[in-house]
Amino acid sequence: MIDLRSDNTLGCSPEILESLTRASRGAVASYGNDPITERLRERCRTIFETELDIIPVATGTAANSLALAAMSPPWGGIFCHADAHIQRDELGAPEFFTGGAKIIPIDGESGKLHVDALKRSIEEYGSSGRMLVPAALSLTQATEAGTTYSVNELRELSELAHAENMLVHVDGARFANAFAAQSRSLADFSWRSGIDVLVFGATKNGAMASELLVIFRRDLTDGLTRRLHRSGHRFSKMRFLSAQLDSYLENDLWLRNARQANEAAGTLAHGLSELGIEILRPVQANIVFARLDPATSSRLSSSGVSFYDWPLFGDGAVRMVTGWNTEPKDIQRVIGLAATE
Ligand SMILES: Cc1ncc(COP(=O)(O)O)c(C=O)c1O
Repeated sequence: MIDLRSDNTLGCSPEILESLTRASRGAVASYGNDPITERLRERCRTIFETELDIIPVATGTAANSLALAAMSPPWGGIFCHADAHIQRDELGAPEFFTGGAKIIPIDGESGKLHVDALKRSIEEYGSSGRMLVPAALSLTQATEAGTTYSVNELRELSELAHAENMLVHVDGARFANAFAAQSRSLADFSWRSGIDVLVFGATKNGAMASELLVIFRRDLTDGLTRRLHRSGHRFSKMRFLSAQLDSYLENDLWLRNARQANEAAGTLAHGLSELGIEILRPVQANIVFARLDPATSSRLSSSGVSFYDWPLFGDGAVRMVTGWNTEPKDIQRVIGLAATE
């Protein structure tokens, strides 16, 4: 069985599991006032090279929705790509948590928002002041199409957002994969590019269940913390969320995991395209979209390779996601099976 359905289907890095056992020893203060959460905060301040606040959260949907609720009033507009998880896959959670903010989906090639399209949309929806107040720009990094925003693109988009008095949120469920694919510093890739709140994902990249809200605009922290509590997301034993994230960041585990996943995706895309299989989106992180003919698709499935059909990207489109523990031999087997007539 080779599972390429999603990076959510995979287990947990052994280092992270061990950190939970260690975190379980003894009694510590609750609700995030424990030494592990404090250590995590300091670690983040060091690696991001700035003062910031953090809040560990159990799911990406909660992290996105709580962040956006602190960034937008109920009458605000949240601008994002049409395929963004917050708009397509979260059952209205951001609208619910914001008390009714309007999500404005914008089309863009390869899952990415482009500054001209964002500008047009802000003008269309925001100019009269009657329809909504532009409140937040939400970017997904890496995108749902497996592509990434460069530092220059992030800067251009966030400069426009800030000029319109909007705040910038990043859904970084696959932030590690996006970061590992380029060579800038974490600071350049986040707050120096204008990001106000980052959801730094860990679950997909080897954690059990933990995402980190990294808050660069610290005036948002108080509102976010109260929303966290009020919505039932403030874990009393927060040390267990923090322990996962602390060991995720320790010794660059997050980067090693992301590099393994990205390399596997790169090899897979290269191998499939050598066979003449169409790769449907640039492969810049750990997701490959390909067009398979029905015979190849069923040969792979019947040989124990699982993946999702992705009709959003056209006839025969499939999505294959590699992960922190995808092995090179598994990728070679998938390519070999695709090559067999
Ligand atoms: C881009 C993106 N953002 C957010 C999420 C939400 O994460 P969760 O399922 O933990 O709520 C996902 C999950 O698949 C995702 O792919």
